[in-house]
Order: sequence, then structure tokens, then C-alpha cells
Amino acid sequence: RTKVTLATLRKLYKRREPITVMTAHDFPTGTLVDKAGIDMTLVGDSLAMVALGYTSTSEITLDEMLHHCRAVARGTRSSFLVADMPFGTYETSPEQAVANAVRIIKEGKAEAVKLEGGRELAPTIARLTKVGIPVLGHIGLTPQRQASLGGYKVQGKTVAKAMALLEDALALQEAGCYGIVLEAVPEPVARHVTNMLSVPTIGIGAGVGCSGQVLVQQDMLGLYGRVPKFCKTYRNLADEIVGALKEYSADVKSGAFPAEEHCYPMPQEELVKFLR
Ligand code: KIV
Ligand code: NA
Repeated sequence: RTKVTLATLRKLYKRREPITVMTAHDFPTGTLVDKAGIDMTLVGDSLAMVALGYTSTSEITLDEMLHHCRAVARGTRSSFLVADMPFGTYETSPEQAVANAVRIIKEGKAEAVKLEGGRELAPTIARLTKVGIPVLGHIGLTPQRQASLGGYKVQGKTVAKAMALLEDALALQEAGCYGIVLEAVPEPVARHVTNMLSVPTIGIGAGVGCSGQVLVQQDMLGLYGRVPKFCKTYRNLADEIVGALKEYSADVKSGAFPAEEHCYPMPQEELVKFLR
């Protein structure tokens, strides 16, 4: 498969082919996403919760994200690689955002960054894109701000809030975002916002009217406890894994593992001398 670039994503958008996006947080999960032919790999800060056990995404540091991003990058060949800017690494000023985004590109080996927020970030996004760092926007439910949103709730359910969402989307597009994630937004609102834009929207809990879709890999594979309503669980891998681990444990206790085929032989004449 040839390398997915911004031009590829643009082409998919133009021909109205849905763009596939999937999260990854380390070398194996990144390799699997790439192998599956997913268009865009997201090193989402959801890894704070699904891979590191934090209770929210705002706890993760830039150094932790860089560590995971590099690992995903080592397993990524064709997919377009984008990484989340952690909470607290881009809000202070456009200068702060550029300095930290540069680290995500140089040290994290990502091709683009994603940051959460609306029109208030337009100057920051404009600066990032001007210095050559592609930016994916993220509006609607923005988990880094869950405290001020009063929890993980659907966004844009009233006319006023839907209008504000559209204004934010237009401001992000104007600032130079190559795409915008819409999270937990009513389907008709996401569809309308998508229709009003000339850059792709990537939906998560936003319905089929978006230009593409993203899910958190642990969620869709059934590897992480509670899954939101909008997530389709394609496999229950946690059950599979626990089953395999229990079998292994029982085999070791009973002596069924390791069997002969798992052992290394020794040449007979050496063995005889060794045991003498
Ligand atoms: O962190 C993440 O995984 C994300 C996606 C859910 C969009 O931001
Ligand atoms: Na995120």
C-alpha cells in the first residue's frame, strides 16, 4: 500500500469515500492498524486511560505521549500518523503550541497534531499550519475539558449550541485545519456541519453523515472496561485473552505445558556424558 498523505486524504474526501481513523498507543497496536489498511492512525491521549490507567486524559504528560508516539511510528508505514497534544501543552500561547508540536513531530515522529477546542484556538492553529505542522481539530465533546463540560456528555443538542459548534468548525477550517473531529454530537448536527465545510469531518459518536470515522482501538476490541454508547464492539478480546491466560495457568499447574514440542533437545552423546 502506498503512503497515505494529506493529498490522499483530500482525494478520499473529494470522492466522498469515508476516511478510516483508528487509535494506536504502542508498536503492536500501531502495526495492526497499518496492516489493516486504515487511512489515519491516531495516537490519541485516550491512551492515558486505556493504556496507562489514568482516570482522565488530562493527566498525561508530553513526555509520556512522545514515548508512545515513537513506538506507534515504528510500526507505521503507510497510514497517516497524527498525535494528540496533551492538555496543558498548547493553551498558553501559539508559541507554546508551536514549541510542543515541533517536539511531537521531531521526537514523536508524527506527521500532524490534534488539539481540542473551538474558535479560541484559531490563532494557535493558524500559527501551527503556517510553520508547516498539519492540524486536526477536535470539537463537540472534548475530553480534556470534561470537568468544565460537567462530564462526558453529548454536545450541541440545542439550536444555540449547534450554531456555536458550526461557528467553531468554520473558524477551525479558516485557521487551516486539514480536518475536524466531531465527538458526541447529534447526527443531524454533525451532518449539517459536515455539509457546510470544505475539509473532512471525522466522527466519533456523530453518525454516518461525517466524512470519516474514528474509534478507540481498545474500546472496539473489547479490551477496556466500559464502552460508550457510540462505540461498536467488534470483538470481545478481553474474554479471549483471559480465557487463554486461564488455560495457560491450568496447563502449568497440571504439567501439560510445556510439552515435548516446546523443548530443546540435546545431542544423545552429549547428554550421556552430561548425565554420567
Ligand atoms: O484520544 C483519542 O483517542 C481521541 C479520539 C477518540 C478522537 O481523541
Ligand atoms: Na484525544
